[in-house]
Amino acid sequence: MSKLTQEVSATEKKYSIPEKLKSYINKETLVVRSPGRINLIGEHTDYNEGFVLPAAIDKAAWVAITPRKDNIIHLFSVDLGEEYETTTSALIPSLKHAWYDYILGVTDQFKKTGFTINGFDAALTADIPIGAGLSSSAAIECAVAFALNEWLQAGLTKLEMVKIAQKAENEYVGLQCGIMDMFASMFGKQNHVIKLDCRSLEYQYEPLNLDGYKVILFDTNVKHTLASSQYNVRRQQCETGVSLVQQHISGINSLRDVDISMLNKYVQPQNKEVYQRCRFVVEEIERLQEACIDLEKNDIEAFGLKMYETHMGLSNLYEVSCSELDFLVDYVKNNPAVAGARMMGGGFGGCTINLVKNEAVDELTYQLKAAYAKAMRKELKVYVAQIGSGTARIN
Ligand code: GLA
Repeated sequence: MSKLTQEVSATEKKYSIPEKLKSYINKETLVVRSPGRINLIGEHTDYNEGFVLPAAIDKAAWVAITPRKDNIIHLFSVDLGEEYETTTSALIPSLKHAWYDYILGVTDQFKKTGFTINGFDAALTADIPIGAGLSSSAAIECAVAFALNEWLQAGLTKLEMVKIAQKAENEYVGLQCGIMDMFASMFGKQNHVIKLDCRSLEYQYEPLNLDGYKVILFDTNVKHTLASSQYNVRRQQCETGVSLVQQHISGINSLRDVDISMLNKYVQPQNKEVYQRCRFVVEEIERLQEACIDLEKNDIEAFGLKMYETHMGLSNLYEVSCSELDFLVDYVKNNPAVAGARMMGGGFGGCTINLVKNEAVDELTYQLKAAYAKAMRKELKVYVAQIGSGTARIN
């Protein structure tokens, strides 16, 4: 493997306790590992009751939780060298998306669900790049939910823990995210993608056979400040679109129930911007269904073309891309060794996801790093995504 890329292998070693966490562990400590995620296709569809196609990756967050006798919560970020202390009765969001909000938000949800929680020490470390759109926050939340569930013997199912993690993000952190990131982290399965119906929450694991291609993530190394505020605005615009259609047609609950002709008739004349947002989502829900058929047929080229279409929609209709992401997709678009590429996740920074022929990865990485540095004056980071398994206790 080239020195330019950081490949993470799916060996047992990755699932053992990281060395730097060991000094925070005693015989009462619970250690849980929870991975980040990629999403092959189906973007901004989760909160519109559509489908998504994510997978857990082999980069993760680890949380070591040690029960205390008092009501103090003492948190350590091993990677940042920071500490934070509060009590179980003073769970107050920082409102700045601080690392400890993800731990306290889940603790708060457990309390709200009716569980009594004593104080605890928690140490956190992660090798998921922060702000790269690989859902490090969902990974932390799922790890904490899983650890608290074990410690309190709460008997929650994986899905209940996913919902707690999502609520923590919605209510404590303040991002109105959908369910995809937490679901992928908790339910991930090695070498499989998850086809998740975000309405019924039914899901299937599909083996990911990419026949000569690798999943490469090009990380813009930027996270524009618009990311969370505009995410919430998009969600609102989708709801506005749904309510415009609801005024004319019964039985409409979400954009999942809406088709393009309804949008043309009831939304376009009222609000052009809302129309564009909704059109992207309605097309994306449909595109994912077709893309799944491509995967079944092992037609990677056809699948890849749909990734480019998704990017166009996210950039021009949904308007959640940015110059760095567009540059990376434009650069690879005409390269015959790249089947498809698009921005991934919420937008305004983070990574592009690319399907690149094995033998072309090194050369492309080399060229793109230089081109990105020249055009954007920033360093491009590159990851080879390996598909790993979901949240689990590892001690
Ligand atoms: C973020 C959110 C997800 C999803 C994606 C866009 O990652 O957390 O719920 O909406 O953006 O697909």
